[in-house]
Formats: sequence, structure tokens, C-alpha cells
Amino acid sequence: MLIRAELPSDEDAIHELTATAFAPMPYSNGSEAPIIRALRSSGDLTLSLVAEEDGVVIGHVAFSRVTIDGVHGGWFGLGPISVQPERQRQGIGKALISEGLKRLKERGAAGCALIGNPEVYRGSGFESDGLLAYGDLDRRYVQRIVFSGPSPRGVLKFADAFEAGADQPGS
Ligand SMILES: CC(C)(COP(=O)(O)OP(=O)(O)OC[C@H]1O[C@@H](n2cnc3c(N)ncnc32)[C@H](O)[C@@H]1OP(=O)(O)O)[C@@H](O)C(=O)NCCC(=O)NCCS
Repeated sequence: MLIRAELPSDEDAIHELTATAFAPMPYSNGSEAPIIRALRSSGDLTLSLVAEEDGVVIGHVAFSRVTIDGVHGGWFGLGPISVQPERQRQGIGKALISEGLKRLKERGAAGCALIGNPEVYRGSGFESDGLLAYGDLDRRYVQRIVFSGPSPRGVLKFADAFEAGADQPGS
């Protein structure tokens, strides 16, 4: 398996993979695949990595700029992340996250935040200390990993393309 930055020729495969992976998830409104396209269009897709095997995209993760209480401060958001359903729970998601965090650090990022199931991200170093909020979501789902500086406190906001897309059921 190769983990590499997305190429323009991967865009449709990423869309299909994301739609397929999220389709069975009760927390999905189908917005995740369109969000990736929207982030790409608005120039907010900071980092987009694919896991490729035998020329097929079997995993993908996106990272984009976030703000905390309106300040970017070198923070990025992880997501959406998807692994082909029949290849889940084999370490592919973790490998994508690990490579993404490494590349963010190399760019001098201060940290990375995400909204998701703590069981999936704890092993990659994410945790919630209750200081980050995302709307009125239970703060246990708002997790972060700090690379440098203090633990951030405040309201997490993703790029406009992400936030606008998250409210709109996609296809
Ligand atoms: C979430 C997802 C990307 C994880 O990718 P993956 O390749 O299956 O994950 P990995 O095998 O690398 O496992 C990473 C960790 O998550 C845990 N995990 C994976 N799937 C899990 C699940 N459904 N429930 C609880 N824990 C899970 C693993 O046990 C592992 O924990 P560890 O680091 O403590 O060992 C993948 O399951 C997926 O595409 N899901 C559908 C889309 C989705 O829900 N995306 C995330 C929304 S928050």
C-alpha cells in the first residue's frame, strides 16, 4: 500500500470512496464527499492523501485549515476520512492519519483537531480535554493533538466550504 498526495486523476475515486464509506453511517447526511470537492474548489484542501493499492484508491483523508475562536493559529482539521468498507479495521485509516500528521508537522502546524469517535482516533494520539467546543456537540467528540504551544481553548470552526457543506445533505 502506498500513501501519497492526491492527484487530479484521483478526484472522482475519492468522491466515490467517501460516499460509499459514509453511506451506512447513521451520523452521515451524505455531505462528506461534496465537502471534499468544495474544499478543493475554494482552495482550502490543505492536504489530501490517498492510500493506493494495485492502482486503486482504498483510503483517503483530508486536512483543512480551522480556526479556534476565530484565530487560525496554525491549526488544521482532519476529515473527512474514509477507507473502503471491506478494507476497514486493517490499519489503513491509522496509516493515513499518521502520514498526514507528519506532513502537517513538517509544515510547522501547531496542531490538528477533529470531530469523531474517540475510539478511532485515540490510538493516533487525539484526545479531548473539554476545552474545544463545536456547536453544542458533546465535547468528548471534539478531539485534538497538540504539536506545539498550549492546548487550545475555544470554539472550533472549519473552513467555510466545510461548514456550509456540512449543513447540506449531499449525493
Ligand atoms: C473511520 C475509518 C476511516 C477508520 O479507518 P480504518 O482503516 O478502519 O481504521 P484502522 O484499522 O486504522 O483503525 C484505527 C483505530 O480505529 C479503531 N476503529 C476502527 N473502526 C472502528 C469502529 N467502527 N469502531 C470503533 N473503533 C474503530 C481501531 O480499533 C483502531 O484503534 P487503535 O488505534 O486503538 O488500534 C473507517 O472505518 C471508515 O471509513 N469509516 C466510514 C467513514 C467514517 O465513519 N469516517 C469517520 C467519521 S468520524
